[in-house]
Amino acid sequence: MNRTYRKTIIAGNWKMNKTIAETTAFARELKKILPKGRWCSIVVCPGALSIPAAVKAFRDTRVAVGAQNMHAADAGAYTGEISPAQVAAAGCEYVILGHSERRALGETDAQVNEKIRAALAAGLRPIVCIGETDAQLAAGLTAEVITLQVKAALVGLNGPKIKKCIFAYEPVWAIGTGQTASPEQAEEVCRGIRTVIRRIADAKVARAVSILYGGSMNADNAFELLACPDVDGGLIGGASLVPEQFVRIIQAANQPTRRREADKPEEEEPLSAAYEEDGSDEAIS
Ligand code: PGA
Repeated sequence: MNRTYRKTIIAGNWKMNKTIAETTAFARELKKILPKGRWCSIVVCPGALSIPAAVKAFRDTRVAVGAQNMHAADAGAYTGEISPAQVAAAGCEYVILGHSERRALGETDAQVNEKIRAALAAGLRPIVCIGETDAQLAAGLTAEVITLQVKAALVGLNGPKIKKCIFAYEPVWAIGTGQTASPEQAEEVCRGIRTVIRRIADAKVARAVSILYGGSMNADNAFELLACPDVDGGLIGGASLVPEQFVRIIQAANQPTRRREADKPEEEEPLSAAYEEDGSDEAIS
């Protein structure tokens, strides 16, 4: 992480877990043990029905609330969906978009882009999930897949809007599997994502975007992952459900950062060669 340029963010993705009562109980426990230091932003993303309870329980705290998905349209005949305005009005500041569990249900890059634009228009900060499958990793396609996903996510967005986006590199093979990416793997891809953003926008925008790692991050591996200069936080599933474990990850984000880099000229920020080339823009399945 590099706190000189961008925020460190520790976000919990609860997925389809916790009732309203369990959400309130979690908030009560978390508030008791939440560290006082403000070295990172903290976000919890409960299921939609628990959002109002979470917003209420965390009202006077530094913990922000996010949704796990939303529809791109403002309103209309979309049974079972939730609009950006509804998410924002409920008190959410963030929304996870393009999670692989939703992409597996058929969500496309183009739909993710539409949702990102809608979220920004509603004043929400999108946490955009991208990542390769195990087959793509084995085929050596990680850089290509990630490049295409970042480009597709940012279609039609200018620099100031891109700055409001948060990316989460979540290798599909690491989600819920206990098989975490190594710090080297996480750093390489997160740096690659920053390289792609730099090509689309500019170095200043790329430096300002927080890029998180997600996929079996837990209290034991968080420190090493968060020590990587381009890993600006975590999107945590399983380990975010238990207050003590979530707090240990928040504590792992309290570590020395590369403040000295502020003195370096912009050209010296390391780029990732694999993400610098003009690859094909054809979809990879
Ligand atoms: P996990 O999930 O931490 O349980 O692997 C992460 C995520 O899917 O966001």
